[in-house]
Amino acid sequence: MNAHPTLPLERPPTARLVPPEAPLSPLRFFRTVLRNPFETWPRAVYRDPVYRSSFLGRPTLYVMDPALVRAVLVDQAESFEKSEVLRRSLSPALGDAILTADGARWRWQRRAAAPIFRNERIVSFLPAMIAAAERTRDALAAGPPEAETDLAQMMMRTTFDIIVATMLSGDGQIDVARVEQGITDYLESTSWIFAMTLLRAPAWMPYPGRTRSERARGYLRDELLRLVADMRRTGVEGRNDLMSLLVAARDPETGRAMDDRDVADNLLTFVTAGHETTALALAWTLYLLALHPGIEARVVAEIEAVTGGGSVEPGHVEALAFTRQTILEAMRLYPPAPVIVRAALADVEIGGHRVPRGTPVTVPIYAIHRHARLWDDPDRFDPDRFAPEAAKARDRYAYLPFGAGPRICIGMSFAMLEAVAVLAVLIRSLHFRLAPGFVPTLKQRITLRPAEGMPMRVARRDG
Ligand code: HEM
Repeated sequence: MNAHPTLPLERPPTARLVPPEAPLSPLRFFRTVLRNPFETWPRAVYRDPVYRSSFLGRPTLYVMDPALVRAVLVDQAESFEKSEVLRRSLSPALGDAILTADGARWRWQRRAAAPIFRNERIVSFLPAMIAAAERTRDALAAGPPEAETDLAQMMMRTTFDIIVATMLSGDGQIDVARVEQGITDYLESTSWIFAMTLLRAPAWMPYPGRTRSERARGYLRDELLRLVADMRRTGVEGRNDLMSLLVAARDPETGRAMDDRDVADNLLTFVTAGHETTALALAWTLYLLALHPGIEARVVAEIEAVTGGGSVEPGHVEALAFTRQTILEAMRLYPPAPVIVRAALADVEIGGHRVPRGTPVTVPIYAIHRHARLWDDPDRFDPDRFAPEAAKARDRYAYLPFGAGPRICIGMSFAMLEAVAVLAVLIRSLHFRLAPGFVPTLKQRITLRPAEGMPMRVARRDG
């Protein structure tokens, strides 16, 4: 039912991938992997419960059935490790930190860092999140109304600002533009690494962009190590930021603490895993709201009602239920992390499917979120899918923007608080319109980016 009868029930088409009908030939497959890995997924991945494919004699199992997803990520999680492609892509930059480590090395770091991300702790970061969003709002409001601004870039800046404020109390001497560029240069090489892994090429093999990517990696690792060393010198007294919390963190079972390298690698992991993903969730949400003015009006009305027409305060954020639903639905259509891949540690069976040791098992989140058996009219943007009753009626493992099981995103609550706070501050004062005729192209570089950014015209609501 349309809750706002005066507003049209608009259903404009939104950007999506068009999957190939049938599996690609090896050459097209390889070329497509280099351009955009998830474009190789055939239509069956959006329709069937499982799908098996093979490249140069190397089999892969895709699992879309929620029961199988649960088996891989939760019930039989111990039988799987992070995939070789993830380790080859990310470990050179992120070391053996929480995102990339496995087994005992992962377990103790996760245990030590978990208390940092508890809700009671992260709500204390809300003032910094709101302040960063207000700086972005003011910068956007000051621009000429008809100028186009890349909102994807603006959201990256905002979430980076937030990670610097919450990680380093904002006082670290950090070259924001260089660090951001370093992360982009590094991630740019990951599709080559993916292709090299498929070809079983050795890790030293050269590929285009390798030198630039290695330079970026060296810069990022040195920079973070320097910040940790600076902080050890000045001490952690009176600080409430992720870096001091990591330095003070102890494994509750063994009392073990992190050394400088562990702290630096985990900080870079939080920067890489946390700022771009959250920025993309926001950029895609703004895109969808620009296409759906009726839903935008509901978001604005909720913010008005909760804030009583005043500014967004920390105490308001958790009450913005529909705003949150809108972000959840945007992450269904455009999951910032569109795929999870695991590898079987031994021969295992999941739901009657034999998985030989070493076989990669792909959880294609982007396709699960648009799967014909799991979602009604899957390409339609409808935040009411996340109203409490509707969400309860659905299988938990049909929706996985943050993964599931023991390796579920440690920053999930942080990211949701941040995304709701930033969106609320921006959308209550500003109106966003897409550049005329603009349709984003989906590009996978570990994360799901709009290839040409998100050019938008921004106007003040009161103007
Ligand atoms: C909208 C924003 C975010 C999305 C969509 C997202 C998505 C994900 C996903 C899907 C995973 C699971 C990967 C797997 O199972 O292989 C993950 C893990 C992780 N995320 Fe996030 N993330 C977001 C924000 C953040 C933030 C803000 C932080 C930290 C400040 C963060 C830190 C991490 C870490 C450290 C892991 C590894 C956890 C582990 O393996 O134990 N993420 N994230």
